Amino acid sequence: MEEQIYSMPRIGDKAPEFKAVTTQGDINFPGDYKGKWVILFSHPADFTPVCTSEFMTFATMAEDFKKMNTELVGLSVDGLYSHIAWLRTIKEKIEYKGMKDVEVKFPLIEDITMEVSKRYGMLQPGESSTKAVRAVFFIDPKGTIRTIIYYPLAVGRNFDEIKRVLIALQTADNFSVALPADWRPGDDVIVPTAGSCGVAKERMESKEEMHCYDWFFCTKKLEEEKVLKALGK
Ligand code: BEZ
Repeated sequence: MEEQIYSMPRIGDKAPEFKAVTTQGDINFPGDYKGKWVILFSHPADFTPVCTSEFMTFATMAEDFKKMNTELVGLSVDGLYSHIAWLRTIKEKIEYKGMKDVEVKFPLIEDITMEVSKRYGMLQPGESSTKAVRAVFFIDPKGTIRTIIYYPLAVGRNFDEIKRVLIALQTADNFSVALPADWRPGDDVIVPTAGSCGVAKERMESKEEMHCYDWFFCTKKLEEEKVLKALGK
């Protein structure tokens, strides 16, 4: 049979649709998540150390993500029974960095056929032809891919950064602003760039609470409280 070749999804694309079997029952993606943000992430294999450390971290943060209207969905090319056995082992036996008795309540997709991994560009043959790399897709409530981060097999993800990106994406939407390098809630935000000479002039002369480094680079304050309130925290 001829192999189906998929192009890699890009930021701004609609999340490719699929139906899958997971550790929490069948899902219809992204339809079942309409109105919610989703972090869809892949991992190379069950019963491996880096992945175990990542799953424990994600599971520990899951409630925090839920408060930000965000659901987690994991995937690997292992089968359902392997997933179940691995998650049971994590809960019953693994204590790591103060985390123990960790229950992974979010769905973990079985993708033995590699259908979903291929559609999402999670299989990168130069790294491995049999294991998904560590991909992270941030998908918004309308089912649009908003950020993609890839990590190789040997490097565990930075969960602080994953949370920061989610907060930044939601803040950009909530306040129609952009966020500068290393932005964190409470830091100044970037006012959309002036789109005409008139606006550029106004900006430079404005007495509004804005700081312009030049006409194309203006920031304003956005209190942490307001950012967190808009996230639902
Ligand atoms: C790990 O999760 O430890 C791992 C998985 C695949 C390749 C290398 C490391």
